[in-house]
Amino acid sequence: MTNKTNKPLSLCVIGGDGIGPEVVDQALRLLDATNLTYIKTTAEAGYAAYQKHGTPLPKRTIKLCREADATLFGAVTTPPNIDNYFSPIVRLRKELGLYANVRPFISLPIANSQPNIDFVIVRENTEDLYCGREHVTPEGAIAERVITIEASKNIIEYAFKLAQKQNRKIVTVVHKANVLRITDGLFLKIAQEVSQNYPKIELRDMLVDACAMQLIKNPSQFEIIVTTNMFGDILSDEAAALVGGLGTASSANIGNNASLFEPIHGSAPKYINTNKANPLATFYALCLLLEHTGYENTSQNIKQAILEALKAGETTKDLGGNLLMSEFTDAVINRLGK
Ligand code: NAI
Ligand code: MG
Repeated sequence: MTNKTNKPLSLCVIGGDGIGPEVVDQALRLLDATNLTYIKTTAEAGYAAYQKHGTPLPKRTIKLCREADATLFGAVTTPPNIDNYFSPIVRLRKELGLYANVRPFISLPIANSQPNIDFVIVRENTEDLYCGREHVTPEGAIAERVITIEASKNIIEYAFKLAQKQNRKIVTVVHKANVLRITDGLFLKIAQEVSQNYPKIELRDMLVDACAMQLIKNPSQFEIIVTTNMFGDILSDEAAALVGGLGTASSANIGNNASLFEPIHGSAPKYINTNKANPLATFYALCLLLEHTGYENTSQNIKQAILEALKAGETTKDLGGNLLMSEFTDAVINRLGK
């Protein structure tokens, strides 16, 4: 099967550190079991790459990510106390211009997931308080918050286009414009302007603290949430807890010329070489990748097989089951296309 361009999917794969390479290998086993043909390149990032090459993000890795249709990323370890170390995933997002961080949350048939949840958090991925402008002052320290018109427009447009594509009726812009009057006031104003171009979609706005509460109290009210970088970071981990926790949540990092898909968990060192990590979040990251690159059918097939395995109680220990990592992959593969 090929996408609209009739060229096979080209995939860059970065396992990273810890359980990263293990969960990515399981996702590739699953992909190999579908009827999709693809071309794979392998790239390095993280602490192991640093030990080998003196940098956690070799230039070759950035090049391969740019050349591929999409990148599947596992996880990296951040070692403490190394002066010239930097986060390769944050740097990659910047180098590749991945301005949108997209995290879907949907109820799963497992005990620790709540019912009736089906929303997406669209988070600005390049600026805000995470722009790296911090400095020491005589009184203590200051961090600057950067909100630009261009990045705000890009992310809000992305949210509305996604709403259109997914037939959603409501976009909720989350902000704190009552206090951050200039920065979040600007973000809210741009949301109101952009929404004029989408008359069929209702724009709601909500203060971030109220949203944190509403996510617990009434999460089924949300369809698409669009917000700035740090609010999105915090709310999306909160939302992950609604649908089963870290072992299930994945995210898409989207730019105009590149895209990268990852589980949101880290390298979970205690699970290395135990065959006990849950590969589910990486399976969902793979599904996001397939949807983004035009292989919706393959993604649907995989998602259906996952649901059937979960419904049958065939899960890893973190979700209450008793399967090893590779056994869970087998359970999904066995249900593909059935
Ligand atoms: P972590 O997400 O690696 O693990 C926290 C705990 O969550 C684990 O001890 C485990 O109990 C559970 N967990 C995570 N992934 C799981 C999976 N696939 N299956 C079952 N259980 C799972 O976060 P932690 O321990 O704070 O960080 C470990 C390393 O990962 C650090 O070096 C950190 O900097 C890095 N990290 C990397 C990220 C990335 O690559 N995007 C994101 C978060 C942390
Ligand atoms: Mg986070």
